[in-house]
Amino acid sequence: MRFLVLGSGGREHAIGWKLVQEGHEVVSAPGNPGLAELGEVYEVALNNRMELLELAKRIEPDLVVIGPEDPLIAGLANMFRENGFATFGPGTDAARLEGSKAFSKDMMKRAGVPTAEYQSFSDPIQAKEYVAARFDAGAQVAVKASGAALGKGVVVCSELEEANQAISEMLEVGSFGQAGKTVVIEDRLFGREFSLLTLVSGDSIHSLPVAQDHKRIFDGDEGPNTGGMGTYSPVSAVSKALVQQTEEEVVRPILSSLAEIDIPYQGVLFSGLMMDGDQVKCLEYNVRFGDPEIQTVVRRLGAGFGDALLAVGKGESIPEIPVLDNASLTLVLASGGYPGDYEKGKPIEIGELPDGVEVFHAGTRIVNDQLVTNGGRVLGVSSVGKTLDEARKVAYEAAKVIHWEGMQFRSDIGAN
Ligand code: AMP
Ligand code: GLY
Repeated sequence: MRFLVLGSGGREHAIGWKLVQEGHEVVSAPGNPGLAELGEVYEVALNNRMELLELAKRIEPDLVVIGPEDPLIAGLANMFRENGFATFGPGTDAARLEGSKAFSKDMMKRAGVPTAEYQSFSDPIQAKEYVAARFDAGAQVAVKASGAALGKGVVVCSELEEANQAISEMLEVGSFGQAGKTVVIEDRLFGREFSLLTLVSGDSIHSLPVAQDHKRIFDGDEGPNTGGMGTYSPVSAVSKALVQQTEEEVVRPILSSLAEIDIPYQGVLFSGLMMDGDQVKCLEYNVRFGDPEIQTVVRRLGAGFGDALLAVGKGESIPEIPVLDNASLTLVLASGGYPGDYEKGKPIEIGELPDGVEVFHAGTRIVNDQLVTNGGRVLGVSSVGKTLDEARKVAYEAAKVIHWEGMQFRSDIGAN
């Protein structure tokens, strides 16, 4: 089958890699140097709808797979479906689960999904009164820009002063632009975080193996949040029973509540979760595959990923995808300075990689035949092993033969 994969990150490279492994044809736009090794790449931006549609008409894919959230929020999946293309990715209404945290929290409440207490504000004075009351009641808070802000619009505050500052930044200074015009303030939760990626095709759902992300930039979970510095799977702390509980309490109810207001869901639902004793609480929903989560997850799937994506795109029941009896780990190699300012254009050297390693391209491009850095998260080194220990060793071995000026990575991925 022929897949048109839209996006240019490590997520899309990993999806494309798996599809090619299964014998499918992968065409991508705007793609990246990694995707270019898998098949034809067309340099069409994801906001250039007319050209994307023309491309799809020309190549006639069996399925269009939309990788990132922004085009989903903007309604790209609607456009392809309206033009008769089987499409993986929810429409603009469902994508508001990620595009508006205020909408998302309201839907969680309506659906009875366990989540932190919250309120939404656009007035800074009222917001500050609310946080003062929460701290008086013994709670701490998370202040969140309601719109999509690349995972950076969330400030978890242990002090009232910090919360007031975050509110001022978002509602008075306007640091997050439109995305920060409304803030959601919720009680801080404590516990272990994990994410669940669930393929959704109407009533049919299929959760992929759980992968654990490390979101902070520095070892020991220190420093600011990033898009994700590394992932591993399996996660022994998350049992099958917990996955089932999450499907029943977090995934199914939100899908039912969307269906009640005539919002269908065709794509992947990413639930960001916090384990609180034997309770599971939902921090957020995303409407696309987690990255780097999917770079790890695809290494643990047997054949049938492409068939499952296609079933979702056609609105059919999702076939089972076998899970391999292995472990996988992805180590993100990032630019010096990320998640703050960083330079691009550093030449990348990749030596001889150990067996079983795949290097997924997240932020690279080719200039004069030389691979150079072109983003904050540059490469995902993805390894497999019989055990997590083995996979971890292999990934860190691989990192030793990759180099560019300023390259940074965490040394403790999968170690806790
Ligand atoms: P979100 O984009 O809403 O998932 O938030 C990004 C990150 O902020 C999460 O992965 C958590 O690490 C943290 N976070 C968000 N909400 C809370 C909360 N209510 N309590 C504690 N940490 C949170
Ligand atoms: N790794 C977290 C995310 O994709 O949002």
